[in-house]
Amino acid sequence: KPIVLSGCQPSGELTIGNYLGALRQWVNMQDSHECYYMLVDQHAITVRPKPEDLRKATLDGLALYLACGVDPEQSTIFIQSHVPEHAQLSWVLNCYTQMGELNRMTQYKDKSQKSEANMNSGLFTYPVLMAADILLYGADKVPVGDDQKQHLELARDIATRFNNLYGDVFTIPDPYIPEFGARIMSLQEPTKKMSKSDNNPANFIGLLEEPKKIAKKIKRAMTDSDEQARIYFDVAEKPGVSNLLSLLSCTTGQSVESLVPGYEDKMYGHLKGDVADAVVALLEPIQEKFHQYRQDQAFLNQVMSQGAEKASARASKILTSVYDAVGFIAKP
Ligand code: AQP
Repeated sequence: KPIVLSGCQPSGELTIGNYLGALRQWVNMQDSHECYYMLVDQHAITVRPKPEDLRKATLDGLALYLACGVDPEQSTIFIQSHVPEHAQLSWVLNCYTQMGELNRMTQYKDKSQKSEANMNSGLFTYPVLMAADILLYGADKVPVGDDQKQHLELARDIATRFNNLYGDVFTIPDPYIPEFGARIMSLQEPTKKMSKSDNNPANFIGLLEEPKKIAKKIKRAMTDSDEQARIYFDVAEKPGVSNLLSLLSCTTGQSVESLVPGYEDKMYGHLKGDVADAVVALLEPIQEKFHQYRQDQAFLNQVMSQGAEKASARASKILTSVYDAVGFIAKP
């Protein structure tokens, strides 16, 4: 079976963007692929969260993976820091990545603008750790949202450079970006993507938010001041309305084209009401399962330890080939 790897950062509560852009694909790929899904807590410390917040977000994330349908019997689910090979390979890959390549990463530019007070080198080398995450498992496909495409291209470049020097050590991974839902936008600023760590909670829909709160946020979402308030899909002219249509389409499974005619004589309020109903209908069963898993610490522990063991067994093999390729002497 082809190998799949992906992960989310426990940098806040996962959003409907993380679900539609990534998690939903993960679940669908489980039957036909050998899947590795992780919570990347080492990536999350690039913004120095409070330790208790990181611990909570990691366990919440794990319970959410399970609640969304990631199945520990089928897939390997683990916490990045439980598998030391990620940090070990990351160091090696740092030495095969050019500063200029990292300078061109748009996420680094965005994040460093947001947090000028904390421009640590982890934020800069984040894509190298991400390349290590992927290459350690020989992943063929990496299901991600659109925002991660650039990082994935860098992972391919690093792997290709390494292989050209030392032979076929790494599998070159392909991005797997969904046709719909790959870029869910912020509710109040629909020209930027929805992010779980956004300072303004009105911008995102958390997977664990109360249905009433979700409906309120959607009803207050930014649309536009088109006097006729027409509802159609045009990302440049009507980013807010288009985002709502995308959300409705992704949550109901109906295409945007088939939805639009139904709103010909309707107001923005109608659309928002329908989006709120569809999002809540999608999230309610997930939330119910989440609470069951989150209370069962013994089960979460079992998933984490079983996952770390399986992940490490695979990762250590590739790390050994890399160490050998660069000339490290094997421990006698
Ligand atoms: N708005 C989005 N629409 C579609 N997909 C998205 N993803 C993130 N935002 C959207 C996808 O979710 C996966 C996990 O993302 P991540 O946690 O690794 O980090 P991120 O891409 O930086 O996501 P956030 O929510 O914006 O996190 P913060 O705020 O911490 O930076 C990825 O596959 C991503 O593409």
